[in-house]
Amino acid sequence: MDDLVSLCKRRGFIFQSGEIYGGMQGMYDYGPLGVELKNNLKQAWWNAMVYENDNIEGLDAAILTNPTILKYSGHEDTFTDPMVDCKSCNQRFRLDQVPEHCKKEDLTEPRQFNLMFKTNVGPIEDGSSFGYLRPETAQSIFTNFKNVVDSSSKSLPFGIAQIGKAFRNEITPRNFIFRVREFEQMELEFFVEPGTDEDWHKKWVQKRLDWWEDQGIPMKSIELYDVPKDELAHYSKGTIDVMYKFPHGLEELEGIANRTDFDLGSHTKNQDELNISANVVENKSSNTRLAIQNIETKEWVVPYVIEPSAGVDRGVLAIMNEAYNVETLGEGKERTVLKLMPHLSPVKAAVIPLKKNNEELVKIASSLKSRLQKLNLGRIILENTGNIGKGYRRHDEIGTPLCITIDFDSIEDNTATLRDRDTMNQERMEIDKIPEYLIKVVNGL
Ligand code: GAP
Repeated sequence: MDDLVSLCKRRGFIFQSGEIYGGMQGMYDYGPLGVELKNNLKQAWWNAMVYENDNIEGLDAAILTNPTILKYSGHEDTFTDPMVDCKSCNQRFRLDQVPEHCKKEDLTEPRQFNLMFKTNVGPIEDGSSFGYLRPETAQSIFTNFKNVVDSSSKSLPFGIAQIGKAFRNEITPRNFIFRVREFEQMELEFFVEPGTDEDWHKKWVQKRLDWWEDQGIPMKSIELYDVPKDELAHYSKGTIDVMYKFPHGLEELEGIANRTDFDLGSHTKNQDELNISANVVENKSSNTRLAIQNIETKEWVVPYVIEPSAGVDRGVLAIMNEAYNVETLGEGKERTVLKLMPHLSPVKAAVIPLKKNNEELVKIASSLKSRLQKLNLGRIILENTGNIGKGYRRHDEIGTPLCITIDFDSIEDNTATLRDRDTMNQERMEIDKIPEYLIKVVNGL
């Protein structure tokens, strides 16, 4: 973990937030390379969910959330962690995370602590008008259920996908970006006919494992945890946690829950007229029926929900952990190389003129950079430093799959040297063929 944290800071992936004022616990900022990696990961998820499935639609809802939503979702009452104070070190811990140095007799009785951030909404600060920063993106998917169904003519099974920030006032944020107070989630709520939910649950577990593998997480680093009944969240009939071997231990990367008809059943009007199986609180506030009419029987059905919910930040940490390699090169030399899947790499290619500021070389390099940039594969960098060895080392360390060197032969024969990040093999290629080649590299073709 220390090596990763150090690389992240040195190369501009991730910084402690507000570091110049001593930082703030549980908050991190993504730097120039981090934002590219994170965007690429989110795009890969969006492609796999929304673009590859005609029965999944996207959403980008507000972060500030009406408290009524979080009352009926159960978050106001149950989104809590038990916490204890240690009278000896004067620190507060989550009950299951008390460090060994705190003695049992120094701990207070556990108290429930709500993890939601509350904020004032509007100009009056008397507590009469407030909102929450959403603790998960899921709720706005449920409250927009009818809007999406009506505007996109969906029938079961279908899904709504959302990527966005979520906030939790974690009692003990820790392990770098693993447990933070502000993070991003990639959540799919997949609505199915009751009775087909268990099959769909299994299917989504497999689909999500396949996706993580495509992002460079090998299955040997993953374990599935079938959450026991007494540990399930209040909404869940069954949850499979995708556990990853993080540098600090085996922990949850993603949860895939069978949320039954709890959510739509909690937020719908006319609950009595709908055959809701989950144990829901009476809703007197909703003005909308969150159900789907069966075309043949004309009966209104509250769909069950399968929810794959992944953390973007935990994904970034796992992916960087897998990609991070220190290789011995012989003669006591070594190189650090980030073997990211090329579609995730923050920089897709570096174009390097052999000699710094040489007019002819830089002209060819700039023209190639512009051509490659227009392919829309991601960031292409013109590296005009004149130090090829240093350029290769830097790009190995940040995971750039391809370095392209423009030298004096390039002026004569319109070719360039391509260096592969993983094998370090070099080959000569016509410059006009490089765009097509890079498309293949980035897309893993
Ligand atoms: N809608 C369901 C839900 O939010 P969750 O298990 O509480 O379920 C889903 O969160 C995912 O969000 C987790 O698997 C994890 O990847 C991520 N996550 C949750 N809390 C986090 C935190 N404090 N810091 C970073 N990621 C977090």
